[in-house]
Amino acid sequence: MPLLRSALWLRDKAIDRTRRAFLAVLRAGPIPQHVAFVMDGNRRYARIKGMKVLQGHVDGFVALRRVLEICSTLDIKYVSVYAFAIDNFKRPKEEVDGLMRLAEKALLELCTHGGVLAEHGVRLNTVGKITLFPPEVQVALAKATELTKDNHRAVLNLCMPYSSRDEMTTAVEETIHDALLRGKNEPITEQDIEDHLLTAKVNSPPLDILIRTSGVNRLSDFLLWQCAENTQVHFIDTFWPDIGLLDLLPIILDYQRKIWSY
Ligand code: FPP
Ligand code: MG
Repeated sequence: MPLLRSALWLRDKAIDRTRRAFLAVLRAGPIPQHVAFVMDGNRRYARIKGMKVLQGHVDGFVALRRVLEICSTLDIKYVSVYAFAIDNFKRPKEEVDGLMRLAEKALLELCTHGGVLAEHGVRLNTVGKITLFPPEVQVALAKATELTKDNHRAVLNLCMPYSSRDEMTTAVEETIHDALLRGKNEPITEQDIEDHLLTAKVNSPPLDILIRTSGVNRLSDFLLWQCAENTQVHFIDTFWPDIGLLDLLPIILDYQRKIWSY
């Protein structure tokens, strides 16, 4: 038994060292400013493993924490994640209720002492129509936002309940409303609309990298305005709950290669 324990200890140490080496190599090159994730594949992951759907989402939350740790270590300043689409309200009630309970718990865990946002100085910005959420989730979001408001190292744009079309429609409405209030008959510019996007609240730069997991090649109405001429889009086969450093390594290296080749 002590021999087995020593072998496991050595294996864990080797994994940890390799991980640190990968991160150090990546940190030596240019780091993207803004990376976004469509966290897809939680239910298929659960089904394949014979788990309940909700366990897939719980494991998806663990993966979110893992990815945020990696992004913080790499000093990525803005991370945006698609946590709940407006369309997701159409899913079975049991799943939606479970996701709401998970969101409430997860938010406080991320932001309170020992949580990844608190530990790494990350500010939380909710991007979405939060009034569609039940009151308990709205309260948790307000609390989490307040708890992280003085964090300045990085930003997490938590997109929920979100759709790009909804974000853009609201931005156009607010732009027109402001223009009418000013009473000036000036043309509305792209910049005016951009300034009213929910990601503009925290000055999010254009997206450098967009990653969608689970082998699905769709954008699903996510950050369409924020995608820019140079946004690299990566569709990877890994289910979201399984995502890790080995998935991110080739993507960041590819980004660095492109930056160096400009
Ligand atoms: C997409 O997979 C995932 C979701 C709709 C929920 C994402 C939620 C989390 C990762 C954890 C919650 C975190 C917070 C902070 C609320 P899917 O359900 O579409 O799976 P499928 O593509 O296999 O059907
Ligand atoms: Mg899906």
